[in-house]
Amino acid sequence: MKTENTVWHEQHISKEQRAALKKQTPCLLWYTGLSGSGKSTVANAVDALLFKLGCHSYLLDGDNVRHGLNGDLGFSDEERIENIRRISEVAKLFIDAGLIVSTAFISPFASDRALAKEKLASGEFIEVFIDTPISICEQRDPKGLYKKARAGEIKDFTGIDSSYDVPQAPQIHVKTAEQSIEQCAQQIVNHLIAQGFIP
Ligand code: PPS
Repeated sequence: MKTENTVWHEQHISKEQRAALKKQTPCLLWYTGLSGSGKSTVANAVDALLFKLGCHSYLLDGDNVRHGLNGDLGFSDEERIENIRRISEVAKLFIDAGLIVSTAFISPFASDRALAKEKLASGEFIEVFIDTPISICEQRDPKGLYKKARAGEIKDFTGIDSSYDVPQAPQIHVKTAEQSIEQCAQQIVNHLIAQGFIP
């Protein structure tokens, strides 16, 4: 727990200096969408394109982070809130390192996404809504989780018995049912170029 004896230390090298060395402007691509919507797939494709362009990026992915850092958290509302709080703090550290950061989490609650945005400097937070109808996510069901949730074998499943707040004004709106993964990824990279985050 942080106490009055916990003191902030300024570092010699600033975020701007780190970013200048990498010839990019750090930002956070915050992917949000239902399970099976394609968040990880699109985020991975974007990360690969950024790598090809010589950008310094890093992807924090839901299932993977839940294997380590957030391995103690489940899927109650409180645990999801803590999951997203930790992720947003880690993302902020990566931003400080001058990176183009991607986070791919359901992040179902608008209030938590707003808190993540508030932690960053103006313009750094880019909400990417992976907008795939639940009927299609359920048809895809890559991990068989919808089937289990419908059978009552998984509780608190997003879109079934746990809520998802649809983003009201995402900076990037991606429709995976209408475009290929390559087109979705290019749409996001084009946004980064148009906004001057990468050359
Ligand atoms: S959250 O809501 O942001 O905290 O969730 P996240 O950390 O992104 O984890 C989502 C992945 O966990 C698997 N899973 C579940 N998802 C939703 N609800 C329940 N109850 C659940 N249980 C396990 C599922 O594989 C999610 O992966 P994605 O990639 O989203 O399909």
